[in-house]
Amino acid sequence: MTIIVTGGAGFIGSNFIFHMLGAHPDYRIVCLDKLTYAGNLSTLAPVMDNPNFRFVKADICDREALDRLFEEEHPDMVVNFAAESHVDRSIEDPGIFLQTNIMGTAALMDACRKYGIQRYHQVSTDEVYGDLPLDRPDLFFTEETPIHTSSPYSSSKAGADLLVLAYHRTYGLPVSISRCSNNYGPYHFPEKLIPLMIANCLNDKPLPVYGEGLNVRDWLYVEDHCRAIDLIIHKGRVGEVYNVGGHNEMRNIDIVKLICKALGKSESLITYVTDRKGHDMRYAIDPAKIHRELGWLPETKFEDGIKKTIDWYLTHREWWETIISGEYQDYYEKMYANR
Ligand code: NAD
Ligand code: TYD
Repeated sequence: MTIIVTGGAGFIGSNFIFHMLGAHPDYRIVCLDKLTYAGNLSTLAPVMDNPNFRFVKADICDREALDRLFEEEHPDMVVNFAAESHVDRSIEDPGIFLQTNIMGTAALMDACRKYGIQRYHQVSTDEVYGDLPLDRPDLFFTEETPIHTSSPYSSSKAGADLLVLAYHRTYGLPVSISRCSNNYGPYHFPEKLIPLMIANCLNDKPLPVYGEGLNVRDWLYVEDHCRAIDLIIHKGRVGEVYNVGGHNEMRNIDIVKLICKALGKSESLITYVTDRKGHDMRYAIDPAKIHRELGWLPETKFEDGIKKTIDWYLTHREWWETIISGEYQDYYEKMYANR
């Protein structure tokens, strides 16, 4: 079995590669990644010498590079993690989101059609469903919830999802889609809430909470997401969407306070800043379908996962300090200076 994993130098993709090489030692895993600001080759250092692993630097929009790779590797499956993934960046500059997330998905699926594939899996997000109100805790996203996006990021992911389902219906491409809630864990890029707050706490820098910090996200430990995708690509039904989430809803402000406490820092570091434009209030996944059909359940409780994550950032300072010392500083200045 040969699987092309796109975006494998990023947060979830790298965790998925580690998971797959451990869970399926006889599989060949080929990582294709453009190495944007969010991709880090150093993340993949632990598997670079594994004879069952290959890294290829390429853009998923580059059809010639895809042709070459498919001719060389004859992949059985493609799992597409490659994406522009940060809502705030999409608000600043939507174009690259449309290019990578929609056009890149089309290019990948065209290669799958041309060369044949057992399974094309699209890694999507609960953000395609839009948001839920805070005063209706009884409501959850199911796979039947209408697509109703808020940001250029979620709109580009929704566009890709629609294209994936259209390629199934029109061309019979054997596809599946997973829509997961917010992940956290090792190798999470420090522009996102949890790693940003850990890094800023450790550097005694202000902790920028958008609005009043009352927005709710449904947090899942990244390894649980990786196990879900492993199950879907092997046992999930073709043409289906599976929601992935762990019923672990938390307000942003409570997460930030918890990180302060765990690191022994004062909550006075918390700074309320101007809210994100179009900020989604609440995400909450109903994972009944993946549980019923594939027996998936999250294994890591939030209190254990967040402890493991904080420990990881404490013991891997070089990984994230290298990132925040580079061009990230310009980004941070632009995003947070006048907020
Ligand atoms: P990330 O930003 O950490 O990683 C994205 C990776 O894709 C990087 O390695 C980057 O170099 C690569 N990439 C970007 N553009 C590319 C291109 N044109 N060609 C090839 N490679 C390219 O993102 P992540 O948080 O690991 O998310 C991975 C996927 O999971 C995304 O599709 C995202 O929408 C989805 N998702 C993320 C979350 C979350 O909480 N992080 C939740 C649900 C779904
Ligand atoms: P983020 O990690 O960007 O994920 P997403 O927007 O995809 O859910 O943000 C998670 C939540 O944290 C979101 O409600 C926005 C909020 N947030 C802050 O309050 N401050 C920050 O500096 C960041 C990056 C996010």
